[in-house]
Amino acid sequence: MLVNAKYEFQPFDAAEALLRHPEEEGHPRTLVAFVGRDLAMGERAASILKDTAPHLARAAAAAKFKGKSGTSIEILAAPGAPASRLIFMGVGKADEAEGEGAEPAKPFDDFFALGGQAAGKIGPGARAVILFDLPAGTPATQDSVAQFALGGWLRAYKFDQYKTKKKDEADREGPMEVVVAVAEPDGVGGAMAEVSHLAEAVILARTLVNEPANVLTPPEFARRASELMKFGVEVEVLDEKAMAELGMRALLGVGQGSEAGSRLVVLRWSGGAEGAAPIAFVGKGVVFDSGGISIKPAASMEDMKGDMAGAAAVTGAMYAIAARKAKANVVGVLGLVENMPDGKAQRPGDIVKSMSGQTIEIINTDAEGRLVLADALTYVVEKHKPAAIVDLATLTGAILVALGQEYGGLFSNNDELADRLTKAGSHIGEKLWRLPMGPAYDKMIDSKFADMKNTGGRHAGSITAAHFLQRFVGKTPWAHLDIAGTGMGSPTSDTNQSWGAGWGVRLLDQLVRDYYEG
Ligand code: BES
Ligand code: MN
Ligand code: ZN
Repeated sequence: MLVNAKYEFQPFDAAEALLRHPEEEGHPRTLVAFVGRDLAMGERAASILKDTAPHLARAAAAAKFKGKSGTSIEILAAPGAPASRLIFMGVGKADEAEGEGAEPAKPFDDFFALGGQAAGKIGPGARAVILFDLPAGTPATQDSVAQFALGGWLRAYKFDQYKTKKKDEADREGPMEVVVAVAEPDGVGGAMAEVSHLAEAVILARTLVNEPANVLTPPEFARRASELMKFGVEVEVLDEKAMAELGMRALLGVGQGSEAGSRLVVLRWSGGAEGAAPIAFVGKGVVFDSGGISIKPAASMEDMKGDMAGAAAVTGAMYAIAARKAKANVVGVLGLVENMPDGKAQRPGDIVKSMSGQTIEIINTDAEGRLVLADALTYVVEKHKPAAIVDLATLTGAILVALGQEYGGLFSNNDELADRLTKAGSHIGEKLWRLPMGPAYDKMIDSKFADMKNTGGRHAGSITAAHFLQRFVGKTPWAHLDIAGTGMGSPTSDTNQSWGAGWGVRLLDQLVRDYYEG
């Protein structure tokens, strides 16, 4: 799957020897090195590049390059240089104070972003040598090398399988081939193997989000999720008949206007103590959200192929957790439906009975995600008695109004779980912001005709949606992540150029690593 970037690790001596070979005809070499604020390099890099130091000094002065992190300069065809392209990337702290009495800056630590930046500079099809030797004070640990490679793999991901012309070109260019020179290449293998699984997991989630709904129907999504069996994940797929027997009328009501069948997928990884209650991840998987009878406006409706980003994140997280054989019990549940208008479609005013027994008045058929999650949550609470539940859903446009694309919205009935998620997220750069909940908001979804209604009016739309979900989790510690802003339509970044970001995969993986293993 990781065809766009190949990394190989070698000791500095071997890299130095490689650089003494002349470049192969038609394959210009790229050399990448890292410099601090004073343009200083690590010892080995400085010695390998000592002949090019004057070029660097001159080019840096001309380009006003000061080694700030996030900036770089490229020098082409420098006489006597060991590569046609020399790229110097800054790793000086961006906010580093200068001058006397200034606080010493914290060492550079964002190797994930740096790896993405480097892959972006090197470009597809290029051959590169990266001298992974950082200026004094910045440790180049195995973990930092692994994060660097992870950033590069994710940067190199492209969803271009439907571009017949571009695709041929890319295939001709081939993957970026990178030799990374490190102090101790032997130890890197283990860290790399783990991180390559994480890269595959994020890429799987991105691809699921990017796929159009004529390809990725609920049954097709279920088929792709079932492939996790190869890692020892137990997979159960409930079709409409099985769900009807369980009384999942809330979920089934959403899918009943679609030609494609609805599915509930249950993924179980049992790497922890036998009988220990699992942590559960539940994902909204609306493969396309037309709004149903309460149909959406045409503008940007195509984006609603990404309304399964929660289910994609859960699938990716299960991939990561199972592939690295995490010592934890984890259940992933995907509620897969398509929301379409049709003669059979559900209408505003309909009243449905959920699996929990609670009845729901449908006010707006476009508030469908919570209906899907209601039954998925009840299912996981009843069948798996989890120690905690985290659901991920592109649930409300209102969360975009509140938080934009910077933070995912966090709602929880449990401070500890909310805190753990916030910490795991800030650690890996998928940030969460907690919003309030309370009885006054809960009242807003009481219905005249049923136990509740599926919308709470114009105010506090993301919060009333969270309250709707909370009515289906009982006393189980639970957190809801509204990822309508972060899960799709992502702005490009150092580590992601794709519309579907795979947001949440690294977050859930980190949460399990930090709090639910061992
Ligand atoms: N899938 C949408 C939410 C969404 C909006 C996701 C924009 C990504 C980008 C959800 O099903 C929806 O339609 N929500 C409605 C709820 C309303 C009818 C109460 C909304 O946000 O407008
Ligand atoms: Mn909707
Ligand atoms: Zn939706």
